[in-house]
Amino acid sequence: MLLRLLHLLVVQGDSVLAIHVQHSDDIFDPNTFHIHEDFCKSKQRLAALEAKGQDRHFTYDELNNATESFRPGMLIGEGAHSQVYRAILENGQDAAVKVLKTSKYSEEIFFREVEILSGLKHENIVQILGYCCCKEMYAIVYNLLNSNLKQRLNQLKWSERMQLAIGLAKALEYLHSLSPPVIHKDVNSSNILLSEDGKPQLSDFGSATVDFSTNQLSSTHKKPIHVIGTFGYLAPEYIMYGRVDEKIDVYSYGVVLLELITGKQAIQTSPVSNQESLVVWARPLLTCGLDERLIDPDLKEDYKEDEMKAMMIVARLCLLHSSSRRPTMKTILQFLEEPNYVLEMQKKREDLVCKNGSKDESDFGVDANSGPADILLEDDDEV
Ligand SMILES: *[C@@H]1O[C@H](CO)[C@@H](O)[C@H](O)[C@H]1NC(C)=O
Ligand SMILES: *[C@@H]1O[C@H](CO)[C@@H](O)[C@H](O)[C@H]1NC(C)=O
Ligand SMILES: *[C@@H]1O[C@H](CO)[C@@H](O)[C@H](O)[C@H]1NC(C)=O
Repeated sequence: MLLRLLHLLVVQGDSVLAIHVQHSDDIFDPNTFHIHEDFCKSKQRLAALEAKGQDRHFTYDELNNATESFRPGMLIGEGAHSQVYRAILENGQDAAVKVLKTSKYSEEIFFREVEILSGLKHENIVQILGYCCCKEMYAIVYNLLNSNLKQRLNQLKWSERMQLAIGLAKALEYLHSLSPPVIHKDVNSSNILLSEDGKPQLSDFGSATVDFSTNQLSSTHKKPIHVIGTFGYLAPEYIMYGRVDEKIDVYSYGVVLLELITGKQAIQTSPVSNQESLVVWARPLLTCGLDERLIDPDLKEDYKEDEMKAMMIVARLCLLHSSSRRPTMKTILQFLEEPNYVLEMQKKREDLVCKNGSKDESDFGVDANSGPADILLEDDDEV
C-alpha cells in the first residue's frame, strides 16, 4: 500500500534519494511525506557552476574585505531571505553582495538564482559577477545600482517612467522568450533597480523558475503548491491554484504600471483599513478613459497624454482576471513603443461596442487570429 502510494508521489527520473515518513503509523496523508534531495546534489550543482566558469568564485575573506567586515554602514537592503551590502572589490569596482540568511531555503534560493542568472545577459537585467558558497555563507555578487523603483517612484519624471516601463517589458520579454521560458515570479518595485540615469534592471531571481510545462512529463506531475512572491503583485490564479506561467509576470508588470501611473505603492498602509490594495482601488477607474483621479499629482500634469492613455490601457489588460486574455510581453512592448497604435485600436473598439451594443466578437468581423490588436476587442473582465 505504502509503496504503491510512494510510487505515485515519486515519478521515475526524479532525483529523490531519501523519503522520510514523519509518523509511520499515521493514516496516510501525502503532506506528512517530506522529500529530501540528497546533499550530494548541491555539490554536483556547485561543480556544474564551476565547470561553466562564467562567474567568479569569491572566498569569504574577499567578501569580508570588500564589505569592510559586513559593517552595518555598508548594508543597503534587507529582504525576507537576504541582506544586501555595498562592496568595493579588489579591482576597485563597486558591487552589491547579497548574503542569504540561513534557513532551510537558503541553499535552494542560492542555486536557483545563480544558475538562472548566469545564463542571462540583457541590459535590463542585473548582472551577476560571482558568488560565494562556503561554510560561513551563501552570497551572490552583482553589479551595483544605486536605488530601486520603490525608493524613487515619486521623484521620477514621466519620461523616466516610460523608459522604466519599456525597459522592464524588454527584460520580461527576453525571459519569456527563452527556451524553456524563465518566469521571474516576484516582479515588484524593490526588485526593479535603477541606475543614476533611471535605466531599470530587474533583479532578485531567488523565486524564478524555468517553465517546463510544454514538457509532458512535468505537467502530469503534481507538485505541492508553495506560493512565493509579494502580496499586492500576485496574479489571482497563482494565489488560488498555484498555476505558474508567463502571465503571472504580466500581471505583476501591470501592478508596476499602476504604480508608475499613480505614484502609489502596490500595498498602502492606511490608518483606516490597515492595508489597501492599489489594484482594488484603481481597477474600476481604469475603464473610464483617462481618469484624473488615477494620475500621480507629483507629475504636476507634466506627461504625454497619448503615452499615459496607452499605459492605462496596457495596465488594464495586464490585470485581467483571465490569464489567457492578458497580452504577452511582446504585445505589451509594441503597445508602449507605439502608443498611437494602441489608442487607435481602443477607439475602434469603443466605437463598435457603443454603436452596436453587441458584445459578440463575431459581429465585428474580426478574425480571431489576426494579431495582437484583437486583445483590445475583447470584453472587460468582471472585477
Ligand atoms: C584583506 O585585507 C587585508 C588588509 O587590507 C589584506 O592583507 C588581505 O590580503 C585581504 N584579503 C583578501 C582575501 O583579499
Ligand atoms: C519585493 O520582493 C522582495 C523579495 O521577495 C521583498 O523582500 C520585498 O519586500 C518586496 N518589495 C515590495 C515593495 O513589496
Ligand atoms: C452593427 O452590426 C450589424 C451586424 O451585426 C452591422 O450590419 C452594422 O453595420 C453595425 N453597425 C455599426 C454602426 O457598426
